[in-house]
Amino acid sequence: MRTPIVAANWKMHKTVGEAVAYFRRLLELVPARPPVELVVFPPATLLLVAQKHLEGSGVAWGAQNAHPEPAGAFTGEVSVPQIADLGARYLICGHSERRHIFGEDDEYIGRKVRAALEGGLVPVLCVGETLEEREAGRAWQVVEGQLATALGGVELPSPERLVIAYEPVWAIGTGVPARPEDAQDMAARIREWLSGRFGRPGREIRIQYGGSVKPENAPEFLTLPDIDGALVGGASLDPDKFWAIAQAAAG
Ligand code: PGA
Repeated sequence: MRTPIVAANWKMHKTVGEAVAYFRRLLELVPARPPVELVVFPPATLLLVAQKHLEGSGVAWGAQNAHPEPAGAFTGEVSVPQIADLGARYLICGHSERRHIFGEDDEYIGRKVRAALEGGLVPVLCVGETLEEREAGRAWQVVEGQLATALGGVELPSPERLVIAYEPVWAIGTGVPARPEDAQDMAARIREWLSGRFGRPGREIRIQYGGSVKPENAPEFLTLPDIDGALVGGASLDPDKFWAIAQAAAG
């Protein structure tokens, strides 16, 4: 049984006051035992606020980024133990903005994935091709390469300890989502690959779709057989929209 997981990636948005208002509204909407797993990824400055307001609720929280080393002279970075200390349960790894704006490569992303697992966090590993790569017929080749390098040497104690987010780069923040049939096709290939890599339990790893998901199009993605949830950017900044998307995942 793969419990759907719907996550809000706030990116570099919201102040303390805005975050508090968001959490208050979200908790008015979300029951104590929501039908799907809900995760909010605020900026690191708001993780303590998330802990204060979401602890004991049906909403989990995670970090958008962390350095692979547990501590050290890395000015400006935060570590997995620091994040875990704030009650975070998830860590986004390999988001396309980290890959393309900050130059993170698959090898570095793999270090982050292993650091997350060692530190007790669940990595949400983002993979996805650019438009150029898709048009050249190389989408699967690119995604397979990202999976193979980032998950090299990873030992998975159980399938709930990893989430994959398929996010085609050209669909992120553009208002133009993938075609549902293409998202399903990619998710099915990823699932097949995960079962080859991790054996039978690999089939139980949850796979999200991300890229311009909104309440209006969420049902098209969240009812696909191999899509187990969504990673939502823009639309997740509004708690009512985020909850509407989560409800689409609940069926
Ligand atoms: P978007 O972002 O929903 O704004 O396209 C998705 C993401 O970056 O995870």
